[in-house]
Amino acid sequence: MQLNILTLPGDGIGAEVTREAVRVLEAVARKFHHELNLSEGLLGGVAIHKTGKPLPDETARLALEADATLMGAVGLPEFDNAPPEQRPERGLLGIRKVLGVYANLRPVRSYKALIESSPLKNHLVDGVDMIIVRELTGGIYYGTPRGISGEGPSERAVNSMVYTRHEIERVSRMAFQLARNRRRKVTSVDKSNVLENSQLWRRVVVEVAREYPDVELDHLLVDNCAMQLILNPRRFDVLLTENMFGDILSDEGAVLAGSIGMLPSASIGDKSPTGAWIGLYEPVHGSAPDIAGQNKANPFGAIGSAAAMLEYSFGLMKEARAVNDAVEKVLDSGNVTADLRPAGAPATTEEVGRAVCSYI
Ligand code: IPM
Ligand code: MG
Repeated sequence: MQLNILTLPGDGIGAEVTREAVRVLEAVARKFHHELNLSEGLLGGVAIHKTGKPLPDETARLALEADATLMGAVGLPEFDNAPPEQRPERGLLGIRKVLGVYANLRPVRSYKALIESSPLKNHLVDGVDMIIVRELTGGIYYGTPRGISGEGPSERAVNSMVYTRHEIERVSRMAFQLARNRRRKVTSVDKSNVLENSQLWRRVVVEVAREYPDVELDHLLVDNCAMQLILNPRRFDVLLTENMFGDILSDEGAVLAGSIGMLPSASIGDKSPTGAWIGLYEPVHGSAPDIAGQNKANPFGAIGSAAAMLEYSFGLMKEARAVNDAVEKVLDSGNVTADLRPAGAPATTEEVGRAVCSYI
């Protein structure tokens, strides 16, 4: 199979972890006889430096042409005080919108080998296996009106949390479909005791659930959900929520997995005419400028995202499994980066990538 993949390494540790994910894709291509066609584009702070824009038109074009896009991370401290439209993050939000990837899948599971890496008690974390389905192209991240106006004591800022029925329906269907291949339980998370937006969310999710009578549905308010994720994380199978709640809860979920460096994500849109999902694949972690360029970032989030790409965009289940099995073997070997607090000397980013390849 020909795999036309665009990489967008982005900022900070993005380049290092993407390099290892690509190394793993190359190993998969060799082993399973696929042809890898890689191109690279600019996104985020590096794109602002080179072109003045966080999402250059050329990058959007390349992403629309590619079968799938693998992203590193965006964000640099020098832009901390820049207005939202001139920040690296705007590039990421832009590419999500351009590709129309409305469902962000963030699996969170505990690995036996990492159980000591989580600050939570072992009996809470052991056996955790959930997937957060975060709506990705709507809500308060994109809603209008937005902006800051006026001055003095009446200077005011506005953001709008906006969802249409259509947007809620399609991401809900994705969650219910996923649940059918898992433990058949969807927990929808909202703030319907306060927000009209959440009231519509809940009403539409309940309606969609009628199409999936074999899947159990329950609801949690987002504040309670934040607590339940720590108190009883095994209760979750598929956690369905809107954009900002999902952003926040998935970082909390990272604590269950031992390190945010472990978490992969797949952002999926509609099916392309060829029947493959349009996908953007990115680790959940950020650009971590404090450790950038030091070869110590954990590449498993990026490598897991590459595995998700093989699965969702190319339907290559055997190949995806080979990557995930290899990751598990490396975890068991203890040859891991510093964030996972290994017993011996920590491995480098590159050593971890090469070890995964050797098991493939
Ligand atoms: C994430 C990140 C992004 C988001 C930022 C970098 C814009 O936190 O993917 O979780 O908020 O979506
Ligand atoms: Mg986030």
